[in-house]
Amino acid sequence: MCGIVAYIGKSDATPILLDGLRRLEYRGYDSAGVAIINDGGLVVRKCVGRISNLSELIQRDPPHGSVGICHTRWATHGGVTDENAHPHFDQSGKLALVHNGVIENYQTLRDELIREGHTFKSQTDTEVLAHLVGKHYDAAKGEPSKARLIDALRAALKQVIGTYGIAMIHSDLPDFIVGARRGSPLVLGIGKGENFLASDVSAIVAHTRDAVYLNDYDIACIDRENFEITSLLGGRSGYEVSKVEFSEKDVDKGEFPHYMLKEIFEQPETVRDAMRGRLSLEEATAKLGGLEMTAAELRGIERIVLSGCGTAFHAAMIGEYLLETLAHIPTECEFASEFRYRNMPMTKDTLVFVISQSGETADTLAALRESQRKGHRTLGICNNVASTIARESDGGVYMHAGPEIGVAATKSFTSQLVILTLISLLLGRIRHQSTSEGIRVIEELEELPEKLRTILKLNDQIRDVAHKYSDAKAMMFLGRQFNFPVAMEGALKMKEISYIHAAGHPSAELKHGVIALITPELPSVFIAPEDSVFDKNISNIEEVKARKGPVIAIGTEGCTQLEKVADDVIYIPKCADYLSPILTVVPLQLLAYHLAVKLGCDVDKPRNLAKSVTVE
Ligand code: AGP
Repeated sequence: MCGIVAYIGKSDATPILLDGLRRLEYRGYDSAGVAIINDGGLVVRKCVGRISNLSELIQRDPPHGSVGICHTRWATHGGVTDENAHPHFDQSGKLALVHNGVIENYQTLRDELIREGHTFKSQTDTEVLAHLVGKHYDAAKGEPSKARLIDALRAALKQVIGTYGIAMIHSDLPDFIVGARRGSPLVLGIGKGENFLASDVSAIVAHTRDAVYLNDYDIACIDRENFEITSLLGGRSGYEVSKVEFSEKDVDKGEFPHYMLKEIFEQPETVRDAMRGRLSLEEATAKLGGLEMTAAELRGIERIVLSGCGTAFHAAMIGEYLLETLAHIPTECEFASEFRYRNMPMTKDTLVFVISQSGETADTLAALRESQRKGHRTLGICNNVASTIARESDGGVYMHAGPEIGVAATKSFTSQLVILTLISLLLGRIRHQSTSEGIRVIEELEELPEKLRTILKLNDQIRDVAHKYSDAKAMMFLGRQFNFPVAMEGALKMKEISYIHAAGHPSAELKHGVIALITPELPSVFIAPEDSVFDKNISNIEEVKARKGPVIAIGTEGCTQLEKVADDVIYIPKCADYLSPILTVVPLQLLAYHLAVKLGCDVDKPRNLAKSVTVE
């Protein structure tokens, strides 16, 4: 996934573009670049590395102008080099383009262009697109005009197979920027005497909260005062101006050293926001209008499939337990990347949920489309409003967690679990669950924010535990029932930000091979709250201790038995078994965070990763 920002207005474009790019850096950070229209020509600055590298390059020789485009890259085609950094140019050097997505038939197009005499400087698919547009533009005779440039873009996009979110400028037309999208997000920001294009609104919310989320096949042409949206499929394209839900402060780190820590500490509020307005004590149930399904339709559901990737898949795993426990509905979870190719037998009364923070993950989007292709109602649980998955789903529930900038998912995970609990409560209450049971669930949910605040007060203790094990070369995470997926999630957090190998297993799997790994150098983290399987976890911990393996335990306040068997214990408040993952995951998020910081890792932008994987 890459990040794009474009600006046309009266101010100097470069600082606006760089600030916007910094807010999109979580989308990819292999290389970055800007192109500015200046005195009838194009000035470009681009280099490998973070946006800070680009900023230093620009400071040495700042380009001036009030129209420009910029890009931060997560490499798909072509290595991480200065030449492959965006923006890319056409043969004439007068057209500059930035792109998020994958042009699947770029090699065929490139070969054809080379036969026609084009020469390329990079190995990217994006440069091929720039040349293709330039070829059509140069072939159309007549004066430079907006129509000529848009027609050239349309002709080029009709030859393209793949996905794109693009912004493009041409030095013949210094008062326009053209954008287009198919499969990769692009939003138009409407300012006063200035307009913007960006991959997501966090890049422009400092300037405007009036946004138009472009649809697939839209082509947007913007100038300082106006914009026009047409469709590649013909005619004008309808659009709606939305008010962005969050403000600039939501995309700032504030007093926190990293976005990830800020987002971990936001969880009392984001968990509250995930249930705000969605609980009815009077009816002892949840109210979820976005499902777009009547009670009778919901009652007719005989099976549920949950799908997602990474952390979202771990939420799906817990959703399976939640739906079976609270709603007694047979439920199965599957990796989205597997679901899309698996051809899972599903009867007509199977309901599919896809879970995605970004709402742009390619595998999850493909799972959605595959499910709908077979006629199944498919609902989305997303955070990003108007994201592709949110828009293509037949309905769904927004997380309302605010922008999650840190690449490691934290607050989105706990929000997903709240929403899956609300769905389970709603489905349970229209089937078998009693009023008193429903009220109990609601009361448990409403206690969560305060319990999370209690856990966050243990931040210093958790940091000390993390530092104690900072020499670990690998770690094991173990849990049972609702907390087995939490073990998987804890392992993923540790891997992706501290680069320490970690694995999550059901505790009972130790004796089926895993215990062979136990040594004094391999710490095991047991998620062992005082629940229905607590005694089983204690036995597993003793198995590890018998082999001199260090043990960190996440346990329930007052449960002193853990201190007799574990080396370190982090206590959390008691709660219902089915809600315990929302609490037990927080110490694991902090454990991974503090270890990564201790090891000098880039917590918010871990190597090789991007916040949302919009390519397969
Ligand atoms: C989790 O910390 C990772 N950032 C990653 O596994 C992520 O959960 C996954 O890529 C799914 O992203 P999504 O929720 O935006 O679809």
